[in-house]
Amino acid sequence: MKIVATTTQSGNGIDSSFQQFLNESDIEYVPRQRKSLERIQRENQAQGVIVWERSGPVLYWPGSKFFFHPSMAKVRIALYRKKGQVDPLIEVCDLKEDDRFLDCTLGLGADAIVASYFTPLGQVVGLESSLPISQVVKWGMQLYQSEMLWLQEAIKRIKVINCEHQSYLKQLEDKSFDVVYFDPMFRDPLLKSQALSPLRKVANHQPLELETIQQACRVARKRVVIKERRDGSEFSRLHCQEVIGSPNNKIAFGVIHL
Ligand SMILES: C[S@@+](CC[C@H](N)C(=O)[O-])C[C@H]1O[C@@H](n2cnc3c(N)ncnc32)[C@H](O)[C@@H]1O
Repeated sequence: MKIVATTTQSGNGIDSSFQQFLNESDIEYVPRQRKSLERIQRENQAQGVIVWERSGPVLYWPGSKFFFHPSMAKVRIALYRKKGQVDPLIEVCDLKEDDRFLDCTLGLGADAIVASYFTPLGQVVGLESSLPISQVVKWGMQLYQSEMLWLQEAIKRIKVINCEHQSYLKQLEDKSFDVVYFDPMFRDPLLKSQALSPLRKVANHQPLELETIQQACRVARKRVVIKERRDGSEFSRLHCQEVIGSPNNKIAFGVIHL
């Protein structure tokens, strides 16, 4: 999959953040020179083009556009702030304010942001194996500005790492995180997950490996949590001890207590 990066039509060359983005990602830079994105894509035989916009990078992919936005996380945290309704993920993970939370499937980062809000004294690390997703989300988070400081601070505390989770887990010490979390791509997507649809095109769709869960159980101190479809066989295949979630909801959490 080839992806190139460029500026907006009015962009004034490469600023220091964009330069850092290019250096760490090895994504080739193509000067915009007033060309359309379709032309840049065609001339460089690229499947996608990342445009460096002031508010963060935007990945243009034929028929879709992908950029970081915290909308779902904002709604979930606001429910707690306004109505005291604790998010199901936080409850299932039994997350405390100084916990260390490892999100092995960062995606758009909504779950990581919610976890970060509830762990102001701990840390959230997000792993993402798809380079375009990790770069768009990492830099979108870094450049994100909001008057809602509680949201901005939760977002900025997240550390994003572009890596494949199994190899990363293997390098970690025993019990180095309190909770290790997985939210893999469903093999049979639910219609309701349309918010993730641009992400689907560039995401890693590999199913979770049993060895990954074994590593996660070594790395986690309290529990390993997996979000999956309730009706499939993933929870039993991955040896979850408990399945938590409303019977009316198609999605549930599988938990391994340690
Ligand atoms: C369903 S999305 C996660 C959504 C996320 N929980 C959120 O709240 O936005 C799954 C993500 O995990 C990533 N992923 C899948 N397998 C992975 C692996 N082996 N290592 C790291 N990331 C992986 C995919 O590329 C995708 O972006």
